[in-house]
Amino acid sequence: MKAQTRGPGGHPQAEKSQFIPPLFDRIAPHYDLMNIVMTAGVWRVWQRAFRRRAGIPRGARVLDVGCGTAELSLMLAGMTGPQGRVVGVDLSAGMLEVGRRKVARSRWAANIELGQGDALHLPFADGSFDAAASAFVMRNVADLDRALAEMRRVVRPGGRVAILELSHPPQTPLMAPYNWYFRHVLPLLGTWAVRAGLPVAPYAWLPKSLETFPGAEALADRMRSAGLAEVEILRLTGGIVCLHTAVSSGA
Ligand SMILES: C[S@@+](CC[C@H](N)C(=O)[O-])C[C@H]1O[C@@H](n2cnc3c(N)ncnc32)[C@H](O)[C@@H]1O
Repeated sequence: MKAQTRGPGGHPQAEKSQFIPPLFDRIAPHYDLMNIVMTAGVWRVWQRAFRRRAGIPRGARVLDVGCGTAELSLMLAGMTGPQGRVVGVDLSAGMLEVGRRKVARSRWAANIELGQGDALHLPFADGSFDAAASAFVMRNVADLDRALAEMRRVVRPGGRVAILELSHPPQTPLMAPYNWYFRHVLPLLGTWAVRAGLPVAPYAWLPKSLETFPGAEALADRMRSAGLAEVEILRLTGGIVCLHTAVSSGA
């Protein structure tokens, strides 16, 4: 039996699907800005690495799992080009609302469609997509193995799966400042933002969500167990973030 871990307010891991949508609804209006501030802009570096290395082909039909405010969806649309198609799903209506506004203002409005959907029960037939991607979502899902299996299922055999996510950097002296920042400064930034009137207390969830998330090699193993092949790991910024890429074996 899997160990039950706890989220904010002592929620068991299995209840993530209940507390995650309201948590992201609350931070949605400030989400993009807070990402840039809290990562001191390195967020953009990770996005660029994804663009270079995810292997999403032009003209592809791509699913963005946990699309949030559509940051990755917009980038995927740029990668797949005018002949491509991007479908984004998310549990949070608030994040989707922000995302839809951004998409409508972008040059990719005709290529991107966003809708409510659960990573654990993707509302698509087997093999519907040429590729599936997700950014900073897998830490938040209640059942990682199921989410990985769902990504594999909806991607046609031979199609790409790319997962960008926070990871556990090696515990070297070089990483000590980052570990200190992540455990102590980040939650403080959240507190400061609350005092400034921003509804971002949920940022306390960030370090907690990583505690129980597997390391890079363990995640690669879980991907293989979910039926994904040719799994590769790209460590970014000393392993703070990893891009895992793979190929689907189909449903
Ligand atoms: C940290 S945000 C990342 C958003 C976006 N991918 C990005 O890179 O900016 C995590 C997102 O995952 C969504 N999410 C969490 N669990 C989910 C699930 N089971 N199904 C769909 N979306 C989920 C949340 O609602 C939230 O919008």
